[in-house]
Amino acid sequence: MSGAGARVADLLVTNVGTLVSPAAIGPQTGTTFGALVVHPDVEFACIDGEIAHIGACGSWRHGAMRELDAQGHAVVPGLVDPHTHVVWAGDRLDDFEAKLRGDDYETILARGGGIRHTMRCTSAASEDDLVSLALPRLAAMRRGGATTVECKSGYGLGPDDELRQLRAIARLGASQSLALWPTLLFHVPPTDARAREEYVRHACEVLVPLVARERLAVGIDVFVEREAFGVDEARTLALAARAHGLHDLHLHVDQFHAIGGVELGVELGALSVDHLEASGPAQVQALAASDMVGVVLPGVTWHLGLPAAPVRAFVDAGAIVAIGTDCNPGSSPLFGMATAMALATRLYRLSPAEALVACTANAAAALRLPLAGRVESGLPSDFCILRSRDWRDLPYTLGDDVIAQVVTARETMAS
Ligand code: NIG
Ligand code: FE
Repeated sequence: MSGAGARVADLLVTNVGTLVSPAAIGPQTGTTFGALVVHPDVEFACIDGEIAHIGACGSWRHGAMRELDAQGHAVVPGLVDPHTHVVWAGDRLDDFEAKLRGDDYETILARGGGIRHTMRCTSAASEDDLVSLALPRLAAMRRGGATTVECKSGYGLGPDDELRQLRAIARLGASQSLALWPTLLFHVPPTDARAREEYVRHACEVLVPLVARERLAVGIDVFVEREAFGVDEARTLALAARAHGLHDLHLHVDQFHAIGGVELGVELGALSVDHLEASGPAQVQALAASDMVGVVLPGVTWHLGLPAAPVRAFVDAGAIVAIGTDCNPGSSPLFGMATAMALATRLYRLSPAEALVACTANAAAALRLPLAGRVESGLPSDFCILRSRDWRDLPYTLGDDVIAQVVTARETMAS
């Protein structure tokens, strides 16, 4: 359980009651889905943003620039949030009240509210505004245990507005220590048929090449739904993205209707298909037979009152399942991954160990980050210290208060 380290550590974390990590590298399925390694009573040393040594208390002999006393509490990997829309302006409080009076999400969207309202507000905001609005949201995500966060654009009325969101995400990535993974999201098209065709054409010929050239995103996402993009439009956008080197494909699918999004993901070799609330047996089988990660979003089920995605069926069929917050103003005003994990255990009947893997190693697989989401020698030193010696208090507690301290790999490096 120890790696060699021949120099003074940047950080030594002492007095760890239990150090808990997914047992194996890569996405976990089937019987290994909930497999954890649990090291009792250890300390670990961090060098150059990696864990250089895990051993019994007092076993690190090379000194440390800084020490952090975990006070006998549990340490888990930094959580990975694989699906957020953290850059937005305006609010959806009127929609919220309308929803409580009985209007549903799709009806609000169809009459020009919902996502379209947020697109208008976000497109009117400056890049500086978007950065200022998103910073406290990222701070809340961090308090909820996230050290790696995927961030989508998607609230632009036009291409320039999408670019502004992606530039804001780039600035956010440089100005705080969470690792951000930007995605260009095609969210909802213009309502007019001609404008819609022109939007897709311009996206393929101008926006995608520009985003790829300026490295503003590592992949794309398309909302495949009756009120959003159809399967053929999504395929056109995904193929254009791939032609320009944006290979990582995520798809919002089966949120309200299973219109072929999972099947498109299989056809195109998507990295993840997200939502899945309306998935049926055919989609369960298709996901299980693929390498795609199924990202489920418990905040959406709680906030919109949608049926829960059939997660137990996915797991039992052998699919890769990850959990995200889907942090956004309309369908999931949820910031903390710890809370998402806690909700997921109840909604989907996941064991605490399965939920932890779904929020760490499997969520990292949804972002093609095979080294993230584990605390082991040689891996990035992103971790959370809990307020409890028993790590199961993390999925047990409703809320993020169970997390005492979040440390990112960047912060463990000597300054
Ligand atoms: O993942 N449903 C599509 N997109 C987001 C919601 C965005 C919004 O309502 O502002 C989602 O649920
Ligand atoms: Fe989403």
